[in-house]
Amino acid sequence: MKVYNLKRKEKTNMTDQTTKNLWEAHSGESQASRRYLAFARKAEEEGFSNLARLFRAIAESETIHAINHLKCVNGVKSSLENVQESLNGEKEEYTGMYPMFMDQAKRDTNNDALKTFYWANETEKVHADFYEKAIESLKQGEDIQVDNIHVCSVCGNTIAGDLPEKCPICGEGRDKFLPMD
Ligand SMILES: [Fe+2]
Ligand SMILES: [Fe+2]
Repeated sequence: MKVYNLKRKEKTNMTDQTTKNLWEAHSGESQASRRYLAFARKAEEEGFSNLARLFRAIAESETIHAINHLKCVNGVKSSLENVQESLNGEKEEYTGMYPMFMDQAKRDTNNDALKTFYWANETEKVHADFYEKAIESLKQGEDIQVDNIHVCSVCGNTIAGDLPEKCPICGEGRDKFLPMD
């Protein structure tokens, strides 16, 4: 096993290749963390609660790696910049990526793919609205006024304040909404 001196204080030299490696590692760790959460839910369904806990723990660990890699490429900036970047991402998804993916899924007659893309596409618009609101507040140096946020466990729809009877995106009942702290 190679041993690296990680306590050195000299200035860090960042090359293009290491930057690329950091982004690639960030992407891989991010995906692993989400997949492990999906696997944890499956383990829970199958009655393996220890395995589920282990998957959740390792998902959390991968999240820490993903965040560390991202910080190393200065991927975390001020909140105003972060929200602006997030807004751009959401817009790209519902104006470009998902419409294109939905068209393809329709052509393929893949209804499962069409549904999951549609749910995400509609939710991204909701996310964009929240981010627009956050930007307005942050520009005044204030936090966004938002509370009682719930997320639909079926489609991901995100609602602040009172919940409707049924999810306006997927049509499931309000019992499917999870409170966020
Ligand atoms: Fe989103
Ligand atoms: Fe929903």
